[in-house]
Amino acid sequence: MPATIIAPSVLSADLGRLAEQVAAVEAAGATWIHVDVMDGHFVPNLSFGPSVVGAVRRATRCLVDVHLMIEAPERWATAYVDAGADSVTVHAEATPHVHRALMAVRDAGAKVGLALNPLTPLAVLEDALCELDLALVMSVDPGFGGQRFLPAALGRLERLREVRRLRGCRTLLQVDGGIDSGTAAPARDAGADVLVAGSAVFGASDPGAAYTELQRAVTG
Ligand code: DX5
Ligand code: ZN
Repeated sequence: MPATIIAPSVLSADLGRLAEQVAAVEAAGATWIHVDVMDGHFVPNLSFGPSVVGAVRRATRCLVDVHLMIEAPERWATAYVDAGADSVTVHAEATPHVHRALMAVRDAGAKVGLALNPLTPLAVLEDALCELDLALVMSVDPGFGGQRFLPAALGRLERLREVRRLRGCRTLLQVDGGIDSGTAAPARDAGADVLVAGSAVFGASDPGAAYTELQRAVTG
């Protein structure tokens, strides 16, 4: 597996300076940018639509990693790929048609991700693991930045890492919520390949420096 990736989440960015903030973390070495899409129904908060994904796309050469926290993701996935998403992650809880949603992303030409909320049984992610590019373990209840990391995510990552080993596939394991310089290394040690970090990066006065600090916490 490649070195641990920190994916800064623009949910916590200063949106009036979005392009500049994305450029700052890219200059510091970021290779992924995470974009949280919330519809006010699946989660009790509203954030971005495809136009902001397009703005991020135009601002960076990083992989644009879109996390859909919306109902009926199978209906909207293509619009996010068309807007410039490189990967699109859907929530298993958001639709009875999980497989259809995954195929909509695949058919549109993006990397396919599947996410689970903290207490959703892990079985769906285990069953789907090798059909995915990205398996996302939520370490907070989705909807807001700045929440505390739920340590039960660590055991879930360890379990997925074991399933991946047994099946011999290369799906990346991602964790999202409450990642900071204290939780990043334990998440990496439990098996996370990609760590999403919102407030720990863009909540800092110098997002580039904050990215570098987090990257150091998981390197070596
Ligand atoms: C939460 C989002 C996260 C959020 C993480 O629902 O999915 O990506 O930006 O924010 P922090 O890192 O502040 O917990
Ligand atoms: Zn997210």
